[in-house]
Amino acid sequence: MTATRGFGIDIGGSGIKGALVDLEKGQLIGDRLRIDTPRPSTPEAVADVVAEIVQHFDWDGPVGVTLPAVVKKGVAHTAANIDPAWIGTDADALFAKRLGRDVDDVAMLNDADAAGMAEMRFGDPAARHGVVTLLTFGTGIGSALFHDGKLVPNTEFGHLEVDGHDAEKKAAASVKDNEGLSYPEWAKRVNRYLTVLENLIWPDLFIVGGGVSKKSEKWVPLLDIRTRVGVASLQNNAGIVGAAAAAAEGIEH
Ligand code: BGC
Repeated sequence: MTATRGFGIDIGGSGIKGALVDLEKGQLIGDRLRIDTPRPSTPEAVADVVAEIVQHFDWDGPVGVTLPAVVKKGVAHTAANIDPAWIGTDADALFAKRLGRDVDDVAMLNDADAAGMAEMRFGDPAARHGVVTLLTFGTGIGSALFHDGKLVPNTEFGHLEVDGHDAEKKAAASVKDNEGLSYPEWAKRVNRYLTVLENLIWPDLFIVGGGVSKKSEKWVPLLDIRTRVGVASLQNNAGIVGAAAAAAEGIEH
């Protein structure tokens, strides 16, 4: 029997968010719970928050969890915006133990991959054709690459070197806030980034997501690139929805 309800948790650099998910509609059921990411964001401290969120919802089924990191077979391999202690951590085993679950009932995946999977399942069906790259603009820049709806996991296009800099250090949404950039100023940086990226991977469509996609009208029309740009339809909850779907389907990369 296919599950109709799932549970997803999205771990970010500033907040950890979890919610029950309607797996048929790709929507949250009720409110999500957000707790500030502990500082330092060590695996143990984050696991405590994840357990608190699962308990809050009294959920006893499979749990999907995203990390802002490369995640292969449940193990984190990078840590750009979280504590370096994550590198080499078997997050799957850690959370399964902390949540009293079997490792098969915890699915770990990269946050942008999760958001992209949600978009493929529940967003514009046109995104399921050709080469599509979802980019999330937040604390960093996350990426998810799809060909005909199938994910190539763990692309790290946010760390592309552009004009001698790590791209996300110049074009993430957090940089806009930290440097007090206007939308046109920031859009120029995003435009440069997307130009370099499109010349390397020639996608048919970019989908832009992350919190800043809620204000897409302020910057997406300013982009002047070859590739079509669409706005993520699930916006900020895409990671939660994608994680819940991955857990329900037993997907890990
Ligand atoms: C990380 C990615 C992550 C992205 C968005 C980057 O710094 O390297 O793994 O998807 O931030 O959180």
